Amino acid sequence: MQSDLFPEDQPEASRPADGSRRTFMQQAGGILGFALASPIASQAETLAEKLAPNNPIVSGASPLQLTINGQVKNLTLEPRTTLLDALREYLDLTGTKKGCDHGQCGACTVHVDGQRTLSCLTLAVMVKGKEITTIEGLATGEQLHPMQAAFVKHDGFQCGYCTPGQIMSGVACVREGHATSDDQAREWMSGNLCRCGAYANILAAVREVAGQQAKG
Ligand code: FES
Ligand code: FES
Repeated sequence: MQSDLFPEDQPEASRPADGSRRTFMQQAGGILGFALASPIASQAETLAEKLAPNNPIVSGASPLQLTINGQVKNLTLEPRTTLLDALREYLDLTGTKKGCDHGQCGACTVHVDGQRTLSCLTLAVMVKGKEITTIEGLATGEQLHPMQAAFVKHDGFQCGYCTPGQIMSGVACVREGHATSDDQAREWMSGNLCRCGAYANILAAVREVAGQQAKG
């Protein structure tokens, strides 16, 4: 091919001053990198010191003990490790799913001290000393949790990827008293998305369990 289609193949001195984005970025990158990198880094350090004056910045992997499904687990994790990654990558508890990893889909929902929590937005170090329950900890031996049984009964899933998060949210939703009507249950389950569109069946499952608990 002709070199005029690939001006970057020409010697530097023979290229025209093109004013292109590439040229701008090459020039600006050096200037901005020099001008901004250092102040931003020092601002971050100053902010961290203000927020936690007595806590040194922790880096590197450190020992951490978590209580998951009633069992104490000893881990060595970097402070930036999310609870979701701790569960899936370090403890082999892969029932909790990674959908968006940005707090938008609910697939990673677990319970922390009984409260539904998005594990992709929670650092593992934040839940030290708390009771964490995942989908693996919901059944009692071979006996499914009533919400799991209701999902089976009502076909509350298709591909099943969102299902652990839906079930964990459903359990919390009923416990919170937020499933006393179809509209209320829809509203309080709205953080859990289902790409397969199994919403009608999920709603039926949640409402059945809410009805059972209302009867006592
Ligand atoms: S993976 Fe956590 S909300 Fe989507
Ligand atoms: S069952 Fe497939 S995403 Fe919900």
